[in-house]
Amino acid sequence: MTDNQETSDAENTTPSGGATLPLRPPCERLSCHKSSVCSRSYFVVVMVFFHVYIINVIALLFYVHYSSGQEDATRSRDAPSSNHQRPESRRPPSKPEFPRDVSLPRIEGIRVGHVQRVSLVPGKLHEMRTLSLKPLLFEIPGFLSEDECRVVMQLAQLKGLMESQLMVQDGQEELAKELNLSPEEIFNLLDINQDGQLQLHEILTHSRVRDGIWLTPENLREIYAGLQVDKDANGLLSLEEFRLLSNDAFQRFLLQQGVKRSQLVRNSRHTWLYQGKGSHQVLQDIKTRVTRLTRLPPILVDLSEPLQVVRYDMGGHYHAHHDSGPVYPETACTHTRLAANTSTPFETSCRYITVLFYLNSVDGGGETAFPVADNRTYDEVSLIQNDVDLLDTRRNCDKSNLRVKPTKGAAVFWYNYLSDGRGWVGEQDEYALHGGCMVTHGTKWVANKWINIDPDYQRQTRYQQLVSQQPEDEDDGLTMNPDIQSTNIHQDL
Ligand code: OGA
Ligand code: CA
Ligand code: FE2
Repeated sequence: MTDNQETSDAENTTPSGGATLPLRPPCERLSCHKSSVCSRSYFVVVMVFFHVYIINVIALLFYVHYSSGQEDATRSRDAPSSNHQRPESRRPPSKPEFPRDVSLPRIEGIRVGHVQRVSLVPGKLHEMRTLSLKPLLFEIPGFLSEDECRVVMQLAQLKGLMESQLMVQDGQEELAKELNLSPEEIFNLLDINQDGQLQLHEILTHSRVRDGIWLTPENLREIYAGLQVDKDANGLLSLEEFRLLSNDAFQRFLLQQGVKRSQLVRNSRHTWLYQGKGSHQVLQDIKTRVTRLTRLPPILVDLSEPLQVVRYDMGGHYHAHHDSGPVYPETACTHTRLAANTSTPFETSCRYITVLFYLNSVDGGGETAFPVADNRTYDEVSLIQNDVDLLDTRRNCDKSNLRVKPTKGAAVFWYNYLSDGRGWVGEQDEYALHGGCMVTHGTKWVANKWINIDPDYQRQTRYQQLVSQQPEDEDDGLTMNPDIQSTNIHQDL
């Protein structure tokens, strides 16, 4: 068809004068004989084919659009009774390995602002709004009732809350010794742009946290001044200047200064509430609702950490962090360490999903910030630019890409890991970075429900088998003391 048109356009420019008579039928304009190719019927046939072709393309587009939409709608409607098996045919070809009989469902975000109705409690529908796709993050207003919020806060008070972070943690020196790197080697590793000088952000990118203390660019300048390391006072450290900044000196200076709670990574109190059989009905109801929300096999929610209840007083904060660790071959998850064959050098908490509940509405501040949510490009180094540290939730929450205002009863939830494309947990989602902004007025109460899943499918399965073989598998396999388990998990953060 296009070829035909091109031919006739070309003919229009010929001296035959056709160009001045655009309304004449094509055959008259063409200087051909009245052969079959130029006949009116040939033209009609070609036009019919053209229209059928266009209609086919449109129909195909409609089919693709509606079939994926329907799938989504079915998934939304089937929320509570979800079928956890994804059709085998949708997975990319997998390498031969341990057979998997479970595929984890992942809720689709569709687009930012998309709202899906979910059935979480009988006779009621909740609205679930997509807040970001990277990380996959949702908000559900009214997830908890006012009464439930009150009971959770009261149960936490009854149990007693402890400091989320102790003032000074030891062990940093040990780490430095273990590292076995010379000052030159460390200098070279820190010098990201390899210009032979250490800029403030180059030091902070690697040592934002020292002994549990959060360093700001100003702190670092104070340390330079106090230890007189920046001899030429240009704000940059040469290798010679860097040598003066020995670990010991650094540490002594910090201790001498005295550390305030506001200088810690986290300034809050928390406790853990067990949600298994025999626990308060409200806590069990919340667990059931979380299972329906996430559509995960109930056993995974049952075997997860207890509910963490957190209280931030005025001035409280939690600098941006990941709730979960990255996945390396040698990494073991805290929750499945029972099932690990060998002792591994790295242990981290593996929290596939975070469900964060707001137990009260905060008078001022206290938003949950996601500094890099839905960033098109994300570069860890650029998190500190021009002395602005995006991870600092006391100063720079206003520069975060996304902030969620705490509203009593609302829940937000997000995936800390990507999918591996085969229905299991994949890489850590670096965009899941988040923190609690400083509370400027009043108190902030939140609760965290973390769903623990080991990215190593085999280890997760072995762990589940192990706990279900425990003699007291009556209580959902949670036979170990949740406080011991949770305290360790907390310290991992
Ligand atoms: C946490 C956390 C965010 C907030 O407790 O891990 O990230 O808004 N909390 O309190
Ligand atoms: Ca440099
Ligand atoms: Fe967190």
